[in-house]
Amino acid sequence: MIYLDNSATTFPKPLGVRNAVEYAIRRYGANPGRSGHTMSKESGREIDKCRKAAANFFGAKEVSDVAFTLNCTQALNMVIKGILKPGDHVVTSSLEHNAVMRPLRKLEKMDIISYTAANVYPCDPQRTVDSFRNAINSNTALIVCTHASNVWGIRLPIERIAALAKIYEIPILVDAAQSAGVLPINVLQQGIDYLCAAGHKGLYGPMGTGILVTHCADKLDTIIEGGTGTDSMKFCQPKEMPQKFESGTPNMVGVSGLRAGLDFVVSRGISNIFKHEMGLITYLYDRLKSIKGVQLYTCRPTYEHFVPVLSFNIKGYISDEVGKILDSRGIEVRTGLHCAPAAHSFMGTLERGTVRVSPSAFNTKQEINRLIEVIKGIKPRS
Ligand code: ALA
Repeated sequence: MIYLDNSATTFPKPLGVRNAVEYAIRRYGANPGRSGHTMSKESGREIDKCRKAAANFFGAKEVSDVAFTLNCTQALNMVIKGILKPGDHVVTSSLEHNAVMRPLRKLEKMDIISYTAANVYPCDPQRTVDSFRNAINSNTALIVCTHASNVWGIRLPIERIAALAKIYEIPILVDAAQSAGVLPINVLQQGIDYLCAAGHKGLYGPMGTGILVTHCADKLDTIIEGGTGTDSMKFCQPKEMPQKFESGTPNMVGVSGLRAGLDFVVSRGISNIFKHEMGLITYLYDRLKSIKGVQLYTCRPTYEHFVPVLSFNIKGYISDEVGKILDSRGIEVRTGLHCAPAAHSFMGTLERGTVRVSPSAFNTKQEINRLIEVIKGIKPRS
């Protein structure tokens, strides 16, 4: 089987991750920070190690700026719903995933907020920043945008958008679901107030892991309250990070695996992983361009303006049909709308969806060649 659906979840996981998960299920079987016994303390120390690794990885000011979540969607909801107040306006982009669009739409429908989706201009950071600037109004209380589109691989100039946010004194929330582990991220240097990432994609951790990094937790209300193992006498949720956002028993095994995933990315090197995957994607793009009937939607992905994700169609086919053919030949890709109808609407592919190829550090040129061979065998329909 050739797995090319790593933008959804990376597979396979590095050996270190598999070992860490197996070790954690045997050795860290107690609730961390909840009881005074030895295994609970050991579990707590393991969570602390992962928190430290994540804080280093994302350039957080304090280790406690990192909270573990179930996934990136949960972290995004925690910030969006925790920060916005009645009457607030939000600026977002035209390439967002439903993890951003659905919470915004829900709050809008409840007449709590309004939002504007600023148009993204691929490969033109200045125009994109201008479009964000034009969307800001006097009630804008949050800028939320993806670092890179999960459909098109198009990158947003988040440092420049963050600089704009600073000028207008508006907090910025970045959805790093597709960029964490592929692009370097340093929240302090890049001026990111809230960063949300998935643990199971480019960080190579298990599913059921996500991360929120913020030094502005005091500006957020909670949307989930419960036991934290601290201040148990009080009925009120603790205000301190990370307990404020970590109620209930954590995904101990997942977090342990995530630490090994972070180790893998650090030891392989983010830029090496990026170059490897971009090499595969540009190779694929160049070959697809010469195949009759293949429809490509973006310019040739450049290392400066893209992450390694490529979407295409074959003339006369809806994307799911192509996905089924590829699957029957042992190649796994994601088709349809990728939970990002806004991004498809942006490119005019809402009706057919696209066939999306997303490699990981483990994919090879031979695998891409096999994909190309199978695509060549699909006869375009008129
Ligand atoms: N958001 C994930 C994707 O892009 C699941 O496939």
